[in-house]
Amino acid sequence: MMVPINALLLLLAASLTPALSFLPAGATPSLPSQLHPPSGSSPAAASSNARAPAFARQAPPSSSAARPLRSALAEPGTGFNTRLDKTFQDAKERGQAAFVGFITAGYPSAADTVDLMLAMQAGGTSVIELGVPYTDPQADGATIQLTNQIAIKGGTDSVGKCLEFVKEARARGLTVPVILMGYFNPFYQYGAANLARDTAAAGADGFIVVDLPPEEGSAFVTSAAEHKLSYVPLIAPTSTDKRIKQLVEGASSFIYCVSVTGVTGSRTELPADLTDFVGRIRKQTDLPLAVGFGITDAAQVGQVAAIGDGVVVGSAILNTIKECGPDATTAERAGAVEKFVSGLVAGTAQSSPANQCTVVGKVPTPPPVSSDESRFGDFGGQFIPETLSEAFREIDEEYTKLKVDPEFQAEFLRYRKEFIGGPTPLQFAPRLTEFAGGANIWLKREDLAHTGAHKINNAIGQALMAKRLGKKRIIAETGAGQHGVATATVCAMLGLECIVYMGAVDCERQKLNVFRMNTLGATVIPVESGQRTLKDAINEAMRDWVTNVRTTHYLIGSAVGPHPFPTIVRDFQCVIGNEIKVMMKEKLNKLPDAVVACVGGGSNAIGTFHPFVKDESVALHGAEAGGKGLDVDQGHCATLTVGTPGVLQGAMTYIIQNKEGQSSLSSSISAGLDYVGVGPEHAFLKASGRAKYGAVTDTQALEGFDMLCKFEGIIPALETSHAVYHAVQIAKTMKKGEDLVINLSGRGDKDMPQIAKLRGVDV
Ligand SMILES: Cc1ncc(COP(=O)(O)O)c(C=O)c1O
Repeated sequence: MMVPINALLLLLAASLTPALSFLPAGATPSLPSQLHPPSGSSPAAASSNARAPAFARQAPPSSSAARPLRSALAEPGTGFNTRLDKTFQDAKERGQAAFVGFITAGYPSAADTVDLMLAMQAGGTSVIELGVPYTDPQADGATIQLTNQIAIKGGTDSVGKCLEFVKEARARGLTVPVILMGYFNPFYQYGAANLARDTAAAGADGFIVVDLPPEEGSAFVTSAAEHKLSYVPLIAPTSTDKRIKQLVEGASSFIYCVSVTGVTGSRTELPADLTDFVGRIRKQTDLPLAVGFGITDAAQVGQVAAIGDGVVVGSAILNTIKECGPDATTAERAGAVEKFVSGLVAGTAQSSPANQCTVVGKVPTPPPVSSDESRFGDFGGQFIPETLSEAFREIDEEYTKLKVDPEFQAEFLRYRKEFIGGPTPLQFAPRLTEFAGGANIWLKREDLAHTGAHKINNAIGQALMAKRLGKKRIIAETGAGQHGVATATVCAMLGLECIVYMGAVDCERQKLNVFRMNTLGATVIPVESGQRTLKDAINEAMRDWVTNVRTTHYLIGSAVGPHPFPTIVRDFQCVIGNEIKVMMKEKLNKLPDAVVACVGGGSNAIGTFHPFVKDESVALHGAEAGGKGLDVDQGHCATLTVGTPGVLQGAMTYIIQNKEGQSSLSSSISAGLDYVGVGPEHAFLKASGRAKYGAVTDTQALEGFDMLCKFEGIIPALETSHAVYHAVQIAKTMKKGEDLVINLSGRGDKDMPQIAKLRGVDV
């Protein structure tokens, strides 16, 4: 008997509500074990190690310009007595702001780095920030991104190699403090305990970790403190006063004030509100404040020196090195850096200093660990640059309200019905079932959803949320173009501006979707960095968001990224699994025995799986892209099958990476699965054994494609074809009379030109 559509919607609404609020069964949130603080490493233990500094306070300089405004520096004795504390104290006593210079280790070549560090010291640099190269520097602008790529290509691809540079520089006479600056994953792969020990032994003085906010960094701060290494927090213009208070507690030497809401890179002007911003931080801490991002010339150095205790310059130094040309000798590069830096250092004299520190050095209080809600077991979390922390807090708060708001739920379901055309059918596939010769195969027809794939469910949900947040500019990334098309569609319907980042390689293989997005009024920006596929598009979208966070919502397209994105995307996609449940009950009065979906980032799969997680009788199977084969290096993206745990794009998850924490290149016939990470909830389901994941090669996916075309008259997307092939193999092993559902995530129209080309047909 058919259930009337209204009754079905009511059932769906009823079943959707609990799915929007529960975590997967058995999710016991905890910190990744590698990062648990070593026993006995409490803040108290750290503070009992702190000894009074050896350097005595000197008489204040006679010039009024050099006299601290608020009071004399506090009697030292509360901090770690490090080179860093002494450096800021000395600078203060000279009446100067400390000059903090950044270079990327290994740029332009490994052979240059130590000489460049020595040249920076010779030019008057007070503190060196040594950039640890990383494949995915999400908060960095073009200059630093490029230096990272060049350094990695030249072999400087690990924390260990950076420590070697520091060791050698110390042996050759470097005396200024060195801070390692980078992203968390390479540090995480090195191992927290070894990292602090080896960093101290190499002669470095601390860390700046761009994507390690205090909520995630407690263990890191503690183990650094045990070796009297400083953890320097970043504070952004978007940081609230409450947050600033929390951030400064973890500091031991100085605070890095990010001058702009944006990525690194030279700029022609300093922001107008810089003095207010630095003043806001000064109200919460007596420690030195160094200001960075975008500072380019001596005049800007002078302006910053007048409002802080330190001036950070990075991209401008790297540009100086670049301008020496590719054939320059190390000595020529070092000479250019020394000259450039000494020109900038001349601007550090503090003519009318404000916001002066009154304390050098303190023992940090490690921050509390992150909340359980942000995790799926050991996976997930929120590894984000500080600029985004307020936006994530806002999204989290808004979504917590929305997910229990019946009006919002009703609005979402109304769009599912009227705009998307849902509930999409659940259809028996008799000929495919016969072919497989095992379980009955059912097809959940998300390919019939408006725009041709499941992506539209999440696009509508998030766009409605963005409207409530008052954000009128939407950015998105896309791989196959389906999420881009869905976002462009929803933005057109709701009157929102839409910008879509898409890897240049994907733009080429999914040309039709680029045209569809343009037709719908969206701007498509081809991404030329990295491998020019989905991961790089996500990095670029994040950079846009870091810059425009106040006006923009990042409508992420899969169940990936920092908390709460994986939960939000999952919840909007749970409409798939919920409908399967209702329809199976209606047709057979039972649950399916297995559900199968393809996994790129994992949104259609988690939307299919999640409503069944607690139904132990339902087997959950994900099909990943095995590309050219798992034995082919960089030839696949079977993340859950062969990846290892680490942090990528804001979450602890599985990644295809090398042991140094650099993400690998990947390959798949299908742009939508070509991603070296995966949503953290899948990482949890794999680790807990609740779901099983298998790899399907390009050739097998094409077989799956043909099977569905020829047996059922449905042309699936290449992504979906992976699930079809995998499902047929699983169905073969199941008993007759058992029921398996494949989520047909999308239709294959977009793939026709690519498949025609593969088969030598000119269309
Ligand atoms: C049709 C289709 N299925 C699946 C995917 C993979 O995404 P996810 O793993 O988030 O479902 C894509 C991505 O573009 C897609 O277009």
